[in-house]
Amino acid sequence: MRITSLRLRTFRNHDDTRIEFGGGINALIGRNGQGKTNILEAVSYLSLGKSFFAALDTQVVQHNAPFFDVHASFVSDNGRAIEASITFAVQEGEKAVRINGSPLEKVSAIVGEFPAVLLSPDHGGIVASGPAERRKFLDIMLCQTSARYLNDLQEYRRILRQRNRVLLDARHQGGVDAGVLDPWTEALVDHGSRIIQKRMECTGFLQEPFMTAYTRLAGTTEPVGLVYAGLHGLAAGMDAKAIGALYHERLHVHRHDEQRRGTTLVGPHRDDLEFLLRGMNAQDFASQGEHKTLLIALKWAEVLYVRTVRDETPMLLLDDVFAELDSERAARVLGQLEENGQAILTATDAGLLAGEIAWDTHHRRLRIERGTCAPYTP
Ligand SMILES: Nc1ncnc2c1ncn2[C@@H]1O[C@H](COP(=O)(O)OP(=O)(O)OP(=O)(O)O)[C@@H](O)[C@H]1O
Ligand SMILES: [Mg+2]
Repeated sequence: MRITSLRLRTFRNHDDTRIEFGGGINALIGRNGQGKTNILEAVSYLSLGKSFFAALDTQVVQHNAPFFDVHASFVSDNGRAIEASITFAVQEGEKAVRINGSPLEKVSAIVGEFPAVLLSPDHGGIVASGPAERRKFLDIMLCQTSARYLNDLQEYRRILRQRNRVLLDARHQGGVDAGVLDPWTEALVDHGSRIIQKRMECTGFLQEPFMTAYTRLAGTTEPVGLVYAGLHGLAAGMDAKAIGALYHERLHVHRHDEQRRGTTLVGPHRDDLEFLLRGMNAQDFASQGEHKTLLIALKWAEVLYVRTVRDETPMLLLDDVFAELDSERAARVLGQLEENGQAILTATDAGLLAGEIAWDTHHRRLRIERGTCAPYTP
């Protein structure tokens, strides 16, 4: 899927901005606070039906305007032209979505029509902070590509809350009633083992493209890897049934601890997606530029995953990724983008876009200034 044109009306600091995109790299260049990220956010509205940045619709409408509107033209991988729009009216407090002029019944029905993969400064935590951010990364990607996963995850969370309540009550009452706990354990294992299996399968898929991209972007042969770290004894290739049996066993081993602490101690809500660099955990020791490179490689692998599962290439949106990269790495990132599908990226300075890109109509540079867009002239 690629986006060919975009119009934003009273969207953040854009009064009425029209942008024509090329099929290759589209670099949005402008100083801080000029409206570059806002353009990526507008694309995210068409991809997710809401802001990638978890902003409220009312925050996105231009101050004092009665609505915002985002309208775009796309071309799918097989050459089909599609128009889409999303409008939010402040007074009604409602969003309306249209595809090829026809309204969709639910805003959420747009999810998956125009897939996009975003890398923003907010994602720094995926490599650098705790496991929760990494689980979130896997969950968002898998929820967007599998309705079954979304359902399993919602159910798992609900069951986990209930099971924890039973364990907490048992702690206060000095013992657990198996007749009350066991059905929750069964349900937890049922949904939880499918979640673990899907996450492991996905991690297995990401591995190869992640390693290849990292090696290329970093310009080294340092070993890197992704490991799904979960239940003790978990091994690649286990099916959901084998994972279920293992999950039961681990819950049994931890049963006294669980009752003492009043909470569920093992399962997908505790798992991690580890990044290994030179055989060590990247979270603890990688440099900022290395973190950034690992993240870009991860997002690259995500593009390939989404493309394989959805049979449609997602648009790649890169917000401010060049800031922490040295000029060699930046040139390699651009080189990798140049050879592949469409990307929209932002930079505060054209000088950060090092490399030998032939900027023309396929690879475009655009200047974003005070909520306007114009061709960039050096
Ligand atoms: N609802 C709104 N109405 C009008 N202006 C808004 C609204 N929300 C944000 N803005 C303005 O949009 C600008 C920020 O735009 P954006 O985040 O796209 O900047 P940017 O070009 O990505 O900058 P940076 O390089 O600092 O990331 C700010 O000046 C902000 O005040
Ligand atoms: Mg920005």
